[in-house]
Formats: sequence, C-alpha cells, structure tokens
Amino acid sequence: MNFLSASEDITTQDFHELEDFIEQSICEDKFIYETCKPLIGGGKRLRPMLFLLCTHAKNSYSNEKALPLAAALELIHTASLVHDDILDGAKKRRGVSTINSRYGAQISVLVGDYLFAKAFQLVAENNYGDKVAEVLSKLVKNLCVGEIMQDRSLFAVPTLGEYYTRINLKTAVFLSSCCKLGGIVSGMSQKEIDGLTFYGGSLGLAFQIVDDILDFFGDEKVTGKIVGGDLKSGVVTLPVIRALKVSKESEVLRGIITSREVTNSDIDKAVEIIKNTDAVEYCKMRATAHIDSALVNLPFGIKTSAGLALEKIADFVVDRTW
Ligand code: FPP
Ligand code: MG
Repeated sequence: MNFLSASEDITTQDFHELEDFIEQSICEDKFIYETCKPLIGGGKRLRPMLFLLCTHAKNSYSNEKALPLAAALELIHTASLVHDDILDGAKKRRGVSTINSRYGAQISVLVGDYLFAKAFQLVAENNYGDKVAEVLSKLVKNLCVGEIMQDRSLFAVPTLGEYYTRINLKTAVFLSSCCKLGGIVSGMSQKEIDGLTFYGGSLGLAFQIVDDILDFFGDEKVTGKIVGGDLKSGVVTLPVIRALKVSKESEVLRGIITSREVTNSDIDKAVEIIKNTDAVEYCKMRATAHIDSALVNLPFGIKTSAGLALEKIADFVVDRTW
C-alpha cells in the first residue's frame, strides 16, 4: 500500500503535481540535480501529502498556492536526511547509496544546505506570511534539538520518557507542523487547526515507533535501509528498551548496545533476543494507540475525500513495511 492506493483521486492528482513541482525545484544546478534525484525520487511524500490533504480537508485551497510550501516541506525533510546520513554514517537511504557514501561529508553538508535553502526560497517567494514562517522555523529547531539529544546519548539506554521526547522532537513535531500548516493556509478555525496538529503529532509518534521496529525487522529491499542501522550507530530505540526490560538475556543485549563496536553478528544476536520477547507486539500496541488517538482528534467529522485519505494514511502508518 502506498499513498496513491491509500486514498482517493484527489491524492493521486496532488501526488503527480507535487512530483513535477519538486523535480522543477531541484534542477537549476546539474551536479546537485543528478546527486539528489535518486534520493528525492524514493521518498514516500508523507509530509507534503499530509500538508496538501489538510489544505483540502475542509476549505478549498488551490494547489497552485499550496505546492511551493508542499515541496519546501519535502526538501527540508530531504535536507535533514542528507545530514542525518552523515551523522549516522549510513550507507543506504531510500534504496540508493547515500550522498555521504558517494561524495563524502563535505559535499553532503553542502547539498543538504542547498536543499534547505531552496526550501526557504520557495517559501519566501510565495508570501505565506509570518505564521507559516514561525511554524517552519520552530519545526527545524525541534528537529535539530531532537538530533542533538540523540547524538549526545548514543550507546546509552534512554528512559521511556527520554525516548518519547526524542521521537517527538525529531519526527512528531514535523508531521504535526505539516498538518498545522495545511489548516493555517486554508483558513481553518483555531480549534480545527489544534485537532489537525494533534492528529499529525500522534501519527508522527506512531510513524517513528514503526520505523524503529523496521530498523530491526524490515526487509532491506523494501525499506531501502540496512537492517540494524540504529544499533550500529548507537541509537537505542523502543524495541531494545522493551527487550531490556523483559528478556532473560537482557545483559547480553545491554553488552551489545553499549559496546560501541557493533558487528553484524551482534546485530543478528540482538534481533534474536528481541524476537524472543514481546517487544514487537508491545511497540505495535503503542503505535496503534497513538493512531487511535490521531483518528479521534481529526476534526470536522471528516467526510470529505481528503479527510478520508487522512484516515487511511493513519492505517498505512502502522501497517507499512517501508
Ligand atoms: C531520520 O531519523 C532523521 C531525522 C528524523 C532528522 C534529522 C535531522 C537533522 C540531521 C538536523 C536537521 C537538519 C536540517 C538540514 C534541517 P532516523 O535516524 O531515526 O531514521 P533513519 O533510520 O531513516 O535514518
Ligand atoms: Mg538515521
């Protein structure tokens, strides 16, 4: 299931218009275009699609006005992934070699900066107003704080509260901001904007928990990322936190995650230990609870096709394999 099958015709049209717009916005420089194209091409477009659907959910806001901001959201996300892959030393992203592994950190920093600047150019050229600029700057600030927090606690076991603070900052705030922006630009009431913001935030928590399961149990060919990447880079996530609590082999697992030199056989062992516990069911249960509260908070009785698509996206987030 992807976002096209997850929703109605409205999404298909949005999706194609968005693809064209993103493509146009990165083709000014040949080297940058060729470097970014494979990476940008493989994204799910969750963030811009959430934004676009929210702009249609109640009032009709034209795609002509919405597309630059939708593309900017995807470019900010892609810029953050380019930088994230330097921090994590990741080899694969979206099924292709990372820019870092092809060109090294110097080019990757600059390409990420370029995409980030391009995003803000699109926003600046389209007069969305101060409120939009405020939401965007806060979301990027939160993204950075989340990453710094993660980087400062590598190879250490976070409490459940610390884990949630981190995934809220690095993922949930981004998704909630996309929904909030859709409500703001299309002129919704504050109550409706708050409902959409809560929907996006809960969706984001579920999304990141599922991402953390897929890091251990996903199929590399489907996720486009290497299994055990989090463990290798020292990021301790919910499946591990749970397994440490309930596994008979928790000391072996603790030894692996704190060793700072995680080998492939360590990853296999960690996967086996996690598998022998209820960690995956536990994480899925938590993700499902966040999705339930996302759906409860969708405003306006949601009977528009965009509203139905937002409901289907919530289901996709838990069931996804990529
Ligand atoms: C992927 O998460 C990465 C992020 C959610 C954010 C990365 C943010 C930064 C590097 C700072 C902001 C930078 C800019 C240019 C705005 P993950 O590591 O959990 O998932 P993964 O398995 O896909 O890498
Ligand atoms: Mg990463």
